[in-house]
Amino acid sequence: MNTHDHQGLVVFHHPLIAHKLATIRDQTTAHRMFRATLKQIAGLMVYEVTRTFETTPIDVQTPMTTTSCNVLKGTVTIVPVLRAGLGMIDGILDVMPEARVGHLGLARDEQTLEPVTYLEKLPSDLSAGPVILVDPMLATGGSASAALTMLKDQGAKDLRMICLVAAPEGVARLRNDHPDVTLYTAALDEKLNDKGYILPGLGDAGDRIYGTN
Ligand code: PRP
Ligand code: URA
Repeated sequence: MNTHDHQGLVVFHHPLIAHKLATIRDQTTAHRMFRATLKQIAGLMVYEVTRTFETTPIDVQTPMTTTSCNVLKGTVTIVPVLRAGLGMIDGILDVMPEARVGHLGLARDEQTLEPVTYLEKLPSDLSAGPVILVDPMLATGGSASAALTMLKDQGAKDLRMICLVAAPEGVARLRNDHPDVTLYTAALDEKLNDKGYILPGLGDAGDRIYGTN
């Protein structure tokens, strides 16, 4: 069962997700297992994240007769924030292979904690359907807020964000900057430390996915 609060935050409470999150948080989990587990969690989460997608009726000819079916309305776009967001993409595409993928490269300046953009490669018609921003970590919320602003500037209207671990500070930032965007997370953690890392968190997600720590 999921908990929904009235301000557009959905925190997952599911035994499988909880089990896999324990693996991900464990400092002894090496990058190969970390990556595989993150992919699995992303696939489980996207089923719920897409629950509010609109559908449109179509007629389908079965071998027996014609019947009315429902298909997704519009073109779905998934946008990972590099690097760490890439770790969730394959799990999402396994479930929704028809989705398009746009890319945003943002790196947090370690001194100021402000995001620096180094790549923006998005489809031009983001208004063509739902857009899901993907980044496992929501810390100060600076990267996610900047990414959502970039997506809106490119025409995105129907936006959701999926992350793995969120800090209260990041949730508050998103609720202030983008109250129209529902945020889905597997865990709402306690706080940030003085370097902007999430506690208890899982460390640096990009480094743990790619073994660069
Ligand atoms: C991490 C993470 C988010 C950001 C979160 O990326 O994947 O994008 O930090 O922090 P914020 O909420 O305070 O902005 P990072 O900048 O470390 O880049 P990486 O994925 O390339 O490691
Ligand atoms: N980015 C990460 O990868 N981890 C954190 O805890 C905070 C920001």
